[in-house]
Amino acid sequence: TIVYVPRDAAARSVGADEVAERIAAAGGDGVRVVRTGSRGLLWLEPMVEVATDRGRVAYGPVAAHEVDGLVAAGMLDGADTDHSLGLTEDIPFLRDQRRITFRRVGVVDPLSAADYERHGGIAGLRKALAMTPEQVVEEVTASGLRGRGGAGFPAGIKWKTVLGATADVKFVCCNADEGDSGTFADRMLMEGDPFTLIEGMAIAAHAVGATEGYVYVRSEYPDAIATLRQAIDAAYAHGWLGESVLGSDLSFDLHVRVGAGAYICGEETSMLESLEGKRGEVRSKPPIPALAGLFGRPTVVNNVLTLGSVPMILAEGAAEFSGFGVGRSRGTQVFQLGGNVARGGIVEAPFGITLGELVNGYGGGTRTGRPVRAVQVGGPLGAYLPVDRFDLPMDYEEFAAAGAMVGHGGVVVFDDTVDMAAMARFAMEFCAEESCGKCTPCRVGAVRGRETIDKIRAGIDAEANLELLEDLCELMTDGSLCAMGGLTPMPVRSAVQHFGEDFHRSPVPLP
Ligand code: NAI
Ligand code: SF4
Repeated sequence: TIVYVPRDAAARSVGADEVAERIAAAGGDGVRVVRTGSRGLLWLEPMVEVATDRGRVAYGPVAAHEVDGLVAAGMLDGADTDHSLGLTEDIPFLRDQRRITFRRVGVVDPLSAADYERHGGIAGLRKALAMTPEQVVEEVTASGLRGRGGAGFPAGIKWKTVLGATADVKFVCCNADEGDSGTFADRMLMEGDPFTLIEGMAIAAHAVGATEGYVYVRSEYPDAIATLRQAIDAAYAHGWLGESVLGSDLSFDLHVRVGAGAYICGEETSMLESLEGKRGEVRSKPPIPALAGLFGRPTVVNNVLTLGSVPMILAEGAAEFSGFGVGRSRGTQVFQLGGNVARGGIVEAPFGITLGELVNGYGGGTRTGRPVRAVQVGGPLGAYLPVDRFDLPMDYEEFAAAGAMVGHGGVVVFDDTVDMAAMARFAMEFCAEESCGKCTPCRVGAVRGRETIDKIRAGIDAEANLELLEDLCELMTDGSLCAMGGLTPMPVRSAVQHFGEDFHRSPVPLP
């Protein structure tokens, strides 16, 4: 019998290693435990799956001390025991999704190259290598794929810029510095299906004429770093990296670099500075990294999910990908449900799904059972939206028109006990803490913003200070050099706009 137990950091944090050990011990010789990524149904972790004639049968959450009892009750035969969830693919949370980028996560052994190929891996790279770089760029452009890091810039257009630049050497850099609170999709892809990212980077290298690549991973992700390093070694061994990739003219070397805990190193130019061994400080743009990036050379900088979506686009064609979505937001987005939510985890769905479908449908409302009051979409710099905006479809343009952003797809839920003035203060405080200090609107503005919100909460000249806060937000939005200072006003303004009453509660003493 084959039993699947995740080795994903989220599953490990709730005891998946112990569960795997107990199953191996209880099952004896007749059982083989395969460690996979997580299916992303995080409230059910550790989730165990058993291979049966009918397909994989799931159990969760399984605690280590329950394993012997569950085995005695027939879990290893797929019997209906405690914690039985039935066939994995019939679990509504999973069944209703459309998994493209995450299609293999939780299914395959992330470090088995053979498993990867058996499940459709490397087909995209093979196709790409039979095409000219121009054709590959054309295909990615036609797919409508936009940057999944948050800004949504068309990937094909970025690649075209790099392809068109002449230089002695070009680079492909993957931004895996997933610093946004409430986001974890990059990590789960790197831990659950790292070859997808490696394949996507090799395709990008061929498309733009790059010979070297870096994955910049945050140090907070030790499991992802270890998995990626092992996967890269395996990819070299299989001829997917290195000299003459798959016997072609492409030569592509890939390295992992580890960050040191600064949020701003997720901003692409700071990341490049950091990769060059310098302090992570934002560069002025122009020049854009596509023309003068790492060590001043033309560089593709894309997020994990952007590069991880490319193999499928090449393997199955641009039309298959662009067939999903709405408006100019094509394909699927890997949403991450977190915060005070009953069912948190990964929801990969075509763009166009509404906020309400995500939070109340997939998420099942709050974990506390109290009414949902606010949802922050797109990380700590994203807007707070009230329940009466739950009809908003996940679409870059629709969100922008609503003064919000889809960003990297993080969705964090709050119940009716939240104090939104405190959340607005948190946004300014976060910016003050993480600002790289290069420009004044952000470095000084965030500190003044925090002080001003403190005064409003203390009831000191509240109306005048609210006006001052709006003035400051406008200045930070218009005058900051990068998205850190430029977007911090978004959560602040949305809190004032949608939850204004929270700024007039009973006075909170100045800190
Ligand atoms: P941006 O709009 O300045 O640029 C987006 C990308 O397009 C960049 O890679 C840029 O170099 C490229 N680009 C722009 N014009 C180009 C051209 N003509 N040719 C080729 N490439 C071009 O946005 P930025 O500052 O890179 O990112 C801001 C976003 O980052 C925010 O919207 C936010 O959602 C997101 N973000 C994500 C975080 C995460 O943890 N994933 C954390 C914080 C912010
Ligand atoms: Fe640095 Fe903030 Fe200015 Fe960005 S906005 S360059 S983080 S000081």
